[in-house]
Amino acid sequence: MTPGIRFQSLCFVALLFLCGSSLAAQGQSAPAASAQLTVDAAKIVSPVSPTLYGLMTEEINHSYDGGLYAELVRNPTFRNIWSGIQGWELVRNGDAGAAMSLDKTTGPSAALSSSLKLEVASASSGNEAGVSNSGYWGIALRAHTAYRGSLYAKVDGASPGPLTVRLISDDSGAVLAEAQVALHAGGWSQYNLSLTTGAIAASSKNHLQLTVAHPETLWLQLVSLFPPTFNDRPDGLRPDLMALMAAMHPHFLRLPGGNYLEGDTLADWYDWKKTIGPRVNRPGHQAPWSYWSTDGLGLLEFLEWCEDLHVEPVLAVYAGYALKGEHVATGHDLEPYVQSAVDEVEYVTGDVSTKWGAERARDGHPAPFPLHYIEIGNEDEFDKSHSYDARFAQFAQALRQHYPQYKLIATTRVKEANAGEQPDLIDDHFYKSPAAMFDLVHHYDNEPRTGPKIFVGEWATRSGSPTPNFGDALGDAAWMTAMERNSDLILMASYAPLLTNVNPEAMQWPTDLIGYDESNSYGSPSYYAQCLFATHLGDGAAQTTITGAGARFFYSATVSSKDHVLHLKLVNASDVDQALRIRLTGISVGDSVAQIDSLHAASFEATNSITLPKAIQPVVSTLHFKGHEFNQVVPQFTIQVIDIPLR
Ligand code: AHR
Repeated sequence: MTPGIRFQSLCFVALLFLCGSSLAAQGQSAPAASAQLTVDAAKIVSPVSPTLYGLMTEEINHSYDGGLYAELVRNPTFRNIWSGIQGWELVRNGDAGAAMSLDKTTGPSAALSSSLKLEVASASSGNEAGVSNSGYWGIALRAHTAYRGSLYAKVDGASPGPLTVRLISDDSGAVLAEAQVALHAGGWSQYNLSLTTGAIAASSKNHLQLTVAHPETLWLQLVSLFPPTFNDRPDGLRPDLMALMAAMHPHFLRLPGGNYLEGDTLADWYDWKKTIGPRVNRPGHQAPWSYWSTDGLGLLEFLEWCEDLHVEPVLAVYAGYALKGEHVATGHDLEPYVQSAVDEVEYVTGDVSTKWGAERARDGHPAPFPLHYIEIGNEDEFDKSHSYDARFAQFAQALRQHYPQYKLIATTRVKEANAGEQPDLIDDHFYKSPAAMFDLVHHYDNEPRTGPKIFVGEWATRSGSPTPNFGDALGDAAWMTAMERNSDLILMASYAPLLTNVNPEAMQWPTDLIGYDESNSYGSPSYYAQCLFATHLGDGAAQTTITGAGARFFYSATVSSKDHVLHLKLVNASDVDQALRIRLTGISVGDSVAQIDSLHAASFEATNSITLPKAIQPVVSTLHFKGHEFNQVVPQFTIQVIDIPLR
């Protein structure tokens, strides 16, 4: 032992003694005895998939409408529910007289064949009549910002007056921005407008108002308002949520679901052809998570989302099974769905000489998108008729015939005897409590390596609501160490669900990675754990041995051959500090300066929230050591990522 190391060891023992006495004084458990972790950084025992960490998405918890899709108008297409036309109210200022109703006989397109009819019997300047929209949970506005609006209108009468469009503060009634739209007589027309705020205080307690100041009958449809969006895409996505996703360094986006792909009944399947082209040609559809999907965020917007994050889609195609148990019979009945999947892949990847590649170009994106993986269905193990083997085979044959270059993912095991087609990957899903997740970490260790590879397409440790707490983050971190160790088998993994609007009634599924309201967003402790794991990942798992560690201590050691860094991930999910003697072999190290990123909380229950968004976040420190060994204490309830330079 060198004098330097002897000195460090003495300090370490002294530290343990001090920690022990202070913990005893506080009535806490004493630190676990020191464990020995040996890492042979020169001996790579298995490869780590370069695409291990990605994202999974679907319309759930108002992920898109009222979430990522930045549209500010709720129910822009005037759908009627039991309580009326959701989001819309009649405005009658002063003694104005007016009525609004849903007119199913006229609309601007076959897809939007109904509209809001506004019959204004009496109105004048100061006594305007019209309608207002409350937004999803308010309309978030900022100072000196231009909001892009549009609407379809039809007016009855030869010389219609202007439509006044205003953004109004709920609290003060003050007009925060205003535009006049000159309506013209005749049939349906689209109108564009811009509303620009002045020096206002940022708030979401605002609403949109459309009024006229004269008697008139008019019809409205697809009333839309957008704030600035990510990369300034028209009808695009929220910049804050895109920035949070980008910081996760994902490699793919599994889309469009999840249950959202399937729908509750066969009629509600994700018919992608109805989600492309001008918005006025998109009817929207009933989504399984209890609310209507406008499909403003349709297939092309999914693909542009991938493009903006520099990731590839993992394209899930509908496979003929509905959540309530119906399925489409294989053969003739299934054929239209198989053709739809073949067309969908052409829309994503075909050049402009192909039918669907040309359609994509007409929609504004001539360049094909990259693609490597196609998933057939979602969670077909729930199909009690056991029809998946045959459905998978019919899809796989057609897709392989047209696109032999792509890997096919099955959503459950496909029996060899029942199908001529075998998948390249299986999509496994895990939703567990923290305790159950800790117990799952050896799940793949002894899985045979001779069959299909694994895509862990949905996984999450679930106890916090609306977003994961620190106990969940520890479960997730433990699980990620297991996936990294088994990443020769697990090629891809994506947490689910990704997003939730945290307003009351917005969420259907508790424990979602990223939370937001109209104005703000935050990453949960699990979000930060994932950022750390995905950002500090090597391309090979190093050989390791450990002795003497506590039962709830987990770790992974991967080596980046390009950057010459050992990424050591240490997860202490117990309430006792874990002392470690870490020995590095197989490498030449001298005086080393390692970076430590630590994520820690005082309890499993501690968490982040919309009001305390960064209560728990990584803290960076450095570690100096000489030679091949050093001591490290991983405190209770702590995730540490140590980057050790190798030379
Ligand atoms: O992630 C929430 C749901 O969990 C998904 O829609 C579904 O695939 C799974 O059952």
